[in-house]
Amino acid sequence: MKYKISVIPGDGVGPEVIQEGIKVLEAAGVKFDWKYYPYGAEHYLKTNEILPDEALKKIEKSDAIYLGAVGDPRVETGILETHLLLKLRFYFDQYVNLRPVKLYPGVPCPLKNKGPEHVNFYVVRENTEDFYVGMGGRFKTKKHSSLLEMRRELYNLKFGIDITNEGASEIAYQIGVISREGARRAIEFAFELAKSKGKKRVTSVDKANVLTHVYGLWREVFEEVAKKYPGIETEFSFVDAITMWFVKNPEWYQVVVTPNMFGDIITDLGAMIQGGMGLAPGGNINPKGISMFEPIHGSAPKYKGLNKANPIATILAGQLMLEQLGEQKAADLVEKAVIEVLKEGKVRTYDLGGTSKTSEVGDAVAGKVGEIGV
Ligand code: IPM
Ligand code: MN
Repeated sequence: MKYKISVIPGDGVGPEVIQEGIKVLEAAGVKFDWKYYPYGAEHYLKTNEILPDEALKKIEKSDAIYLGAVGDPRVETGILETHLLLKLRFYFDQYVNLRPVKLYPGVPCPLKNKGPEHVNFYVVRENTEDFYVGMGGRFKTKKHSSLLEMRRELYNLKFGIDITNEGASEIAYQIGVISREGARRAIEFAFELAKSKGKKRVTSVDKANVLTHVYGLWREVFEEVAKKYPGIETEFSFVDAITMWFVKNPEWYQVVVTPNMFGDIITDLGAMIQGGMGLAPGGNINPKGISMFEPIHGSAPKYKGLNKANPIATILAGQLMLEQLGEQKAADLVEKAVIEVLKEGKVRTYDLGGTSKTSEVGDAVAGKVGEIGV
């Protein structure tokens, strides 16, 4: 079996870290056919093209997507995020963003008196709804009408907006959407993950005390799904409180499931308690479709081309990809190799207090994969 992988190295440090991810995956004994796509800031600035439909059709024929990072200061905020990254997530209906928060031995943790035994959980972020649906508007007039449309695999929605404005100088609004089915499938994924990973508790994170409509529905669905898993303990936490608890008591958490926007926020915090953005991978998952794997960090333009960025987040994203493809043994091998290299502590990038280059970390992990694998 040879897996067809669409590779989008992207911007900034993206190409450098992707190269090391591929190096490690090539060493893990699984066969790949890599197909590269040029999309990102450079391509956009040169051609005005972000992600053409014909590329989506080609990517559709692959088994998974491996993405470096997108974003560039020369491109207006939001353009590449919306029309490249979010477009891929929505088009392929990658309804779960899976983000393991795991502190590895030898990695400095900013939390006092916490070690690898304290930080080891998963965040399951719903990945297609909430305030990420991109529907909203902005106006200064006395009257405002708009037709907002949303197309998803599960449904199509049209919101007819008709606003009378008495006295406000300018108004902006943004619509958040939670659907019963959209919430159910993400929450169910979290419970199934808990089951398969031997975790005993699932925590739902929301702000149902204020955003009562959207997160009220989320909570209701969480309670319904939880009934099907009597062996798993459940709890609700408000998003503000969980940022405090992640810092104070990370050992409490096993699987956390949350709507899109809060998932975005709490996983940056998660990345810090696992040793930093250089170590945090993410998988945008459609269990029956084409999933996309990426480090959760951005393109870090100021480090571009310096061979300095930590490639471990991207390597671990590769591990998640192997797992999703069903290559569990190879996935475990990659993780073990990362752990060994981190434990030895000889080869590490600047963010972990070392002086090694991006490519040296890739070489070291790939070398370890070879050593352990034989
Ligand atoms: C992430 C990023 C994206 C998000 C941005 C770039 C659209 O922050 O993957 O966490 O908000 O999901
Ligand atoms: Mn983010």
